[in-house]
Amino acid sequence: MTTINKAAFIAALISIAAFSTAYPTFAAPIMLKGDINRDDMVSVSDMVVFRSFLLGRYGLNETQTIAADINGDGAVDSTDLSDLQDIILESRNKLPIGTWIGDCAGSKRYFSFGSGTVSIVDPNIGKSQFFTVENEGDLMIFRSGKAEMSAFVTWDSELSFVLRWCNGCTETFRYFCDSKTEITDLLTGRWVTSQGRTFEISGLSGKLTDKSGNVSRFEYAPNGENITFHIGSTDNSISGKKNVNDSMHFTMTWSDSTSEKFTRQEIEVRDGITYVNGILIANKTYALPADYNPGKILSEPQSAFDTMKADAAKDGIYLSIVSGFRSYTYQGQLYSSYVNRDGKAAADTYSARAGHSEHQTGLAMDINNAGSSFNNTKEAKWLAANCVKYGFIIRYPLGKEDITGYQYESWHVRYLGRELAKEVADSGLTLEEFLCIDSKYKT
Ligand code: DAL
Ligand code: ZN
Repeated sequence: MTTINKAAFIAALISIAAFSTAYPTFAAPIMLKGDINRDDMVSVSDMVVFRSFLLGRYGLNETQTIAADINGDGAVDSTDLSDLQDIILESRNKLPIGTWIGDCAGSKRYFSFGSGTVSIVDPNIGKSQFFTVENEGDLMIFRSGKAEMSAFVTWDSELSFVLRWCNGCTETFRYFCDSKTEITDLLTGRWVTSQGRTFEISGLSGKLTDKSGNVSRFEYAPNGENITFHIGSTDNSISGKKNVNDSMHFTMTWSDSTSEKFTRQEIEVRDGITYVNGILIANKTYALPADYNPGKILSEPQSAFDTMKADAAKDGIYLSIVSGFRSYTYQGQLYSSYVNRDGKAAADTYSARAGHSEHQTGLAMDINNAGSSFNNTKEAKWLAANCVKYGFIIRYPLGKEDITGYQYESWHVRYLGRELAKEVADSGLTLEEFLCIDSKYKT
């Protein structure tokens, strides 16, 4: 009777193994010592199979033999059975501490274990989830409010364990670091660097394009300010410390002491309009469509200007808008008149071609006097010192002509909103530098 039950049990185990191989998405490339029935966990079922084998009631195939030879002495015998028992007992009532990387069929997430708690940082869903965690026999139980999930746990070594989730998914874990990993540590997005490289990070891996356009894949592991990029399939890895400058910039100081500045850059074109990190851009590189025509200065920059004007008046400074919104057609006429007067090369240093002017956005304005006689006036000084408080930046600063593409314009301000204007102003960068874009006509 017992024998029949065992045979049925083994048949069931074999069918589970067959099920696993039929669904390779769940099958992790793991070979746990002691996992004789190959169900990605080491449990009492493996002991049952092992005993049947020792009693001559069950034959082991090649992989099962490797799994059963726990002490690696080339023989499968009762000493391995006792090691198997130790593995099972050790896996019970043992909880990890520190941060571990879970890998379920290539999809990775962090588990930061405290005592009796874990926060799971899942880059795919972009948030952290908090659970209490405890052992119940072979199971690790995760609870959050009324939600509960559980998994069979097998410790493979001090630095790795496997969770076999009840939905059949097998997640392998390797120890990562002592400290807690937060979702804010993840650098998801596209970053361009001062060395002309692009890092496109998604989840815990990404794509690196070097200056010459060569592409390699990398895995990356942030541990607070310490970051390691494991590049390609070789042991090639680069590590360094991250110093955050603002929400869009950080600087890596690599282990060889060189540094590289990273700038977040997501370029999106919607209805022909280019947004870099959500910021509408019109410059020599990025043009606006001819039919983009808000018709006037947009209401937010207009009311920001009105407030600025009222506050300036309290300081005895009079501000007025001498040129606000300009249509595609009007800008084209203006530019042509400058070309006729000064020639194309000269006109390109101070006037935008049709479609390339910020005035067409409804977000830019010229204050008081659009000419160099405005420079150094008390109004220009007040504007430079105060416009950021109202959400504006001086868009074409002195000394940055090669970057913005235009001569210094002390009178031209661009509305970015208060928060961003402050970040850009505090960085001391032009908008092009801040976003790591250029401003150059193609022809
Ligand atoms: N003067 C600025 C560059 C424009 O024409 O838009
Ligand atoms: Zn202007």
